[in-house]
Amino acid sequence: MSPNNASLMDKIVSLAKRRGFVFPGSEIYGGLANSWDYGPLGVELKNNIKNVWWDRFVHRRDDMAGLDSALIMNPKVWEASGHVATFSDPLVECKKCHTRFRADAIDLKAPCQACKSKDGFTEPRQFNLMLKTFLGPAEEKANIAYFRPETAQGMFVDFKNVLDTTRKQLPFGIAQVGKAFRNEITPGNFIFRTREFEQMEIEYFIQPPVHDDDWKAFFEHWRKEMLSWMKDDLGLDLAHVHELEVGDGDRAHYSKRTIDFEYDFPFGKKELYGLAYRGDFDLKNHFKESGPYVDPQTGEKSWPHVIEPTWGVDRSILAVLCNSYTEDGDRVLLKLPPKLAPYKAAVFPLLANKEQLVGMARQIYDHLRKKFVVAWDDRGNIGKRYFSQDEIGTPYCITVDFDTMGEGDAKNKNTVTVRDRDTGKQERVAIDDLEAFLTGKLQ
Ligand code: GAP
Repeated sequence: MSPNNASLMDKIVSLAKRRGFVFPGSEIYGGLANSWDYGPLGVELKNNIKNVWWDRFVHRRDDMAGLDSALIMNPKVWEASGHVATFSDPLVECKKCHTRFRADAIDLKAPCQACKSKDGFTEPRQFNLMLKTFLGPAEEKANIAYFRPETAQGMFVDFKNVLDTTRKQLPFGIAQVGKAFRNEITPGNFIFRTREFEQMEIEYFIQPPVHDDDWKAFFEHWRKEMLSWMKDDLGLDLAHVHELEVGDGDRAHYSKRTIDFEYDFPFGKKELYGLAYRGDFDLKNHFKESGPYVDPQTGEKSWPHVIEPTWGVDRSILAVLCNSYTEDGDRVLLKLPPKLAPYKAAVFPLLANKEQLVGMARQIYDHLRKKFVVAWDDRGNIGKRYFSQDEIGTPYCITVDFDTMGEGDAKNKNTVTVRDRDTGKQERVAIDDLEAFLTGKLQ
């Protein structure tokens, strides 16, 4: 990471803490390495991302059903999925200080990053990333269970339940948003790689392809949808998004084709999302005994194939923060897309000690917050309030002034000043039009 990028990352982490987006986890007890809590603004941003995603990929499509499956599943799920046997990373240990690293994430010929020793590393051994726990009072082998390392398996295991309770027919998808856990060897880079994180995943089931072109068409559909999500919903600059075709030896055990969407984070080009063609691996393994899918119209039996687009929630947040962080002189702005901003607007009385200004601003605030998440601010002067709202990404600041009350320019009576975060431009908007104004901006 260049010094500039290192300081950009430091600034983002510091803003995130200072303004209540992301706090270090368990901070008063000295923290817990690489665990993070989403604060009051962070949880709004996170929920907005998840809601926009759900709306786009579940509610607005006919071919999708939602699911919220258990975090801890029968351990047999993870045997059938191959995770118990193969979900591992190569681990090496510094021969001097015994710090452990992911073998594929460091230069094994370079000195140890922790102690600078040149003694070298142990031979790589496979380390399983499943996070184990015990169910019930006895900590014995029979009670071992795993926190799910991906939401995906819930969608496979409930495939027939979803079919039986909806009228979905192939092709269709099951979508889920939820936590996943991995005992990562080297977590780090703020919320980029953690042991507890959230995913938004779709398992899209298709007829077994007769020709390669059959699955390739669906794969291409989802590739375009993922790019459109990044550009149109997250507002990312696609010049910073790169598609990596994952080679034969590097793909997950189930995948016949995988693309990683990488993003230019300040600490380097790293995986943001993935898109995989999982073939019929999962359903065949889980439903070995109960049998294949039966087409309700033709009665034909088959094992559907799966295209899996997968999105990390925390990496989405990090990419959005990096993309929207802007400095303009001594002003810091988060140019968040209005749909994602924690507050859609902030309402101020020009002066906090003028009762009629405060009363009118309160009325507007109370009306708007029935429809939108809005902030109230009457501290300090207007300049400071703008500064503060810019830093948390509030797209519009609404000020009630003497003109609003009919005590200035008569044509401005019953209008307010609306200031745009990104341009700094101000316009007068009628109080009665404010709701429509904000609705229009949130499309
Ligand atoms: N079901 C497929 C699957 O889980 P993956 O590439 O291992 O695929 C999907 O994970 C996405 O989950 C990644 O692209 C990334 O956005 C996110 N992700 C994976 N591991 C993560 C971690 N340790 N911390 C934060 N996000 C993670």
